[in-house]
Amino acid sequence: MRFSPFSTCRMRPARLGACVIATTVILATVTAVAHQGATGIVKERMETMSAIARELKTLAAMVKSNEVDGTAAKEIGARVAEDARRVPDQFPEGSLSDVSEARDTIWTDFADFEDKSADLATAAAALAERDAASLDRTALAQALKRMGRTCKSCHESYRLKKN
Ligand code: HEC
Repeated sequence: MRFSPFSTCRMRPARLGACVIATTVILATVTAVAHQGATGIVKERMETMSAIARELKTLAAMVKSNEVDGTAAKEIGARVAEDARRVPDQFPEGSLSDVSEARDTIWTDFADFEDKSADLATAAAALAERDAASLDRTALAQALKRMGRTCKSCHESYRLKKN
């Protein structure tokens, strides 16, 4: 099934709802079967990914409810950026297991994998650096979309289970 949730995220206010619903659906799907039976570094990175997904869900809920807390959103951006910067180290060469959904192409093109981690870190850091007061619903939806694209881009290349 090919499904591009973020393509619904046009920034016309009328479509924000559809965007957020699509984002929330994808995040719910990816967290549903979280890391059963994983150990060691595989478990650690699954926890990092799940933490990132939870942070984005919180942002999506703010957009959906139109109760935007700019300061909290900035803090989420900072935490996601920090998590994203740790991602490459959580994929030591060949670290696969039965439960891992990582593709072995991560290690044949590790520089690209690092770039894709950095894309998320950059997008999240951009949110962290906003003025809290400038973070209205539209701005937050845009930030969410920008981060969401980086998840999708990396998962399409390097995760067995696609969003
Ligand atoms: C640089 C690549 C990359 C980026 C960026 C990325 N992911 Fe992942 N993600 C992966 C890989 C690879 C896996 C599979 C890891 C494994 O199973 O060993 C994964 C797994 C996951 C999982 C499943 C965790 C589990 O418990 O099994 C979730 C949830 C997830 N990612 C959410 C996100 C979200 C949300 C974003 C964006 C905000 C994101 N990811 C960004 C590479 C990435």
